[in-house]
Amino acid sequence: MNAIHEIAQLGAAVLRLDAQPIANAHSPETRALIDTLRAALASSQGVGLAAPQIGISRRIVIVASRPNARYPHAPLMEPTVMINPVFRPLSDEKEKGWEGCLSVPGIRALVPRFKDIRVEYLDEQGKRVEKELHDFIARVFQHEVDHLDGLVFLDRVESNRDIVSESEYFKLLS
Ligand code: NI
Repeated sequence: MNAIHEIAQLGAAVLRLDAQPIANAHSPETRALIDTLRAALASSQGVGLAAPQIGISRRIVIVASRPNARYPHAPLMEPTVMINPVFRPLSDEKEKGWEGCLSVPGIRALVPRFKDIRVEYLDEQGKRVEKELHDFIARVFQHEVDHLDGLVFLDRVESNRDIVSESEYFKLLS
């Protein structure tokens, strides 16, 4: 795989596929994919990455979190590998928040997401994990799982007026 971790860009067919489940969390292929995903996320400014974004149509994501301008109280969460992730909302309540994506450079948009969700996935050791996620981390999780279902955040916006250029987004924050 490319050392500079080329990120699939909007328009690439791989971003529109239904990704395949991981059958074996311990296989050499899965381990290699996890290593590549970690490295790709580390070399970017992202808070999450999904395998399709590095061209591999498999159900693995990495979710991370750190305080940022929009969510100054976002918890610090070390990059966490999630295999075959699924979730269900704990209530119907959604909240709009700003999102961007390494596969959609230069664009930000307000995206409605469930505030509170219960998630289930296999961790890197193949152990089943169940937990609740809230607010920013729940948002990142839902964004990344969308990538596994062939969706990007632009598919979720309610109005084209909620889409802005990154340069205008930074003006909004200042
Ligand atoms: Ni994304």
